[in-house]
Amino acid sequence: MAQSKNLHATWSSQTIFVLAAVGSAVGLGNLWKFPYITGENGGAAFVLVYLLCILAVGLPILIAEITLGRAGQASPPQAMANIVRKVGGSRLWVFLGINGVLGGLLILSFYSVIAGWGLAYFLQSLQGNFVGMDAQGAQNYFDQFVASPGGLVFWHSLIMVATVLIVIKGVRSGIERAINIMMPGLLVILLILFGYAMTMPAFSQSFDFLFQPDFSKLTANSILVALGHAFFTLSLGFGTMMVYGSYLPKSFSIIRATLWIVVADTVIALLAGLVIFSIVFDNGLTPGAGPGLLFQTLPVAFSQMQFGWLLGTLFFAMVVLAALSSAISMIEPGLSWLEQNWGIARAKGAWWLGGGVWFLGLGSALAFNLWQDVTLIGERDIFESMDFLTSNLMLPLGGLFTALFVGWVWSRQQRDQQTGMPPSWSGVYTLVIRWIAPILVAIVFVNNLIA
Ligand code: PHE
Repeated sequence: MAQSKNLHATWSSQTIFVLAAVGSAVGLGNLWKFPYITGENGGAAFVLVYLLCILAVGLPILIAEITLGRAGQASPPQAMANIVRKVGGSRLWVFLGINGVLGGLLILSFYSVIAGWGLAYFLQSLQGNFVGMDAQGAQNYFDQFVASPGGLVFWHSLIMVATVLIVIKGVRSGIERAINIMMPGLLVILLILFGYAMTMPAFSQSFDFLFQPDFSKLTANSILVALGHAFFTLSLGFGTMMVYGSYLPKSFSIIRATLWIVVADTVIALLAGLVIFSIVFDNGLTPGAGPGLLFQTLPVAFSQMQFGWLLGTLFFAMVVLAALSSAISMIEPGLSWLEQNWGIARAKGAWWLGGGVWFLGLGSALAFNLWQDVTLIGERDIFESMDFLTSNLMLPLGGLFTALFVGWVWSRQQRDQQTGMPPSWSGVYTLVIRWIAPILVAIVFVNNLIA
């Protein structure tokens, strides 16, 4: 590996770091996946388990990743190399960083396909094409939409180009500027939609569905799904939070930032859930509709609601903003690595990586039509295989080794120096990061492997 150059990029304020990290965390995971897995797993009891997983595993590993990034002051592989050089661990820890770089790129390849659906739906809604559509119409529309290889590839391409055009300009003029526009936009839209949902008759039913637990609906599998999702939604295990942490000046408080990120991500997921289920119940749709919930059922609901055209357009605009602010954080670990370790100019690196990810994503786009019958891992088609490989294997593995490194290899003193934790908290943190988080994540990993 080439000698690392010093990293000069830093966030211009603590607030923008928190916003960028929240932008990464809040994405399709919150708006698309969280509602449908909550629907499939019976609602409030699942939400409660999910919240516990966020606290017991998500929060400690998020602290660990950001801290490693800041201590290493470089792209994930180099950050690990830098830290290991100081504490005397094995060079093999560099693979933790490489897992992050590869995982981020792989996940982006299919994430961009779904983000493309959001973009297409946004434009359809804007043109008023969902007005008056019934359930059958929405189903047909969706089926036809995903059956078109050219269409899916087109929308996927647009998302990839947008992602590259943002990151190409660097941390301050690229990521920060985009985040400064996207995040306030997303929040305003969410609040408008939430305000509207509160006036709906089904709002209280939606509230009960999310907050009145019925534990008989909980299965062992739901718990594993909740834990896996706690990782995905906080962008853990993929070097994303590590690379964002590496741009953090020494004077910023990691703990305060982390708490903000976790609270914002969770509150946004719950608000989005309340909005979506109010719409679902108000229209007599079923909450357990699966992955199609967002794209098959919501257009029907919007088509029948007052101001549905406007609300639907805002909703899908929110999906696109959330997905793009996550997409840029998936490519950044790889990009920073090419830039810092291989001396490749940022612009060139961004186009190369973006092109590679775009090419890989073709497989996921075509998995819905031309290559429907092509299977890669077990019975899974290409899209499902990519999701399985990244979300179910690489992500827990990344999280597990992050916890093991920070818990067992890194000295507590060096860690505390970075996080600034008071001794009493640090004791609890040590217990969690050494034992609780790794054991829980290992259970999920092993289960995913045999499932
Ligand atoms: N957290 C993002 C979401 O909820 C997904 C993501 C995963 C982003 C991993 C970056 C890295 O959609």
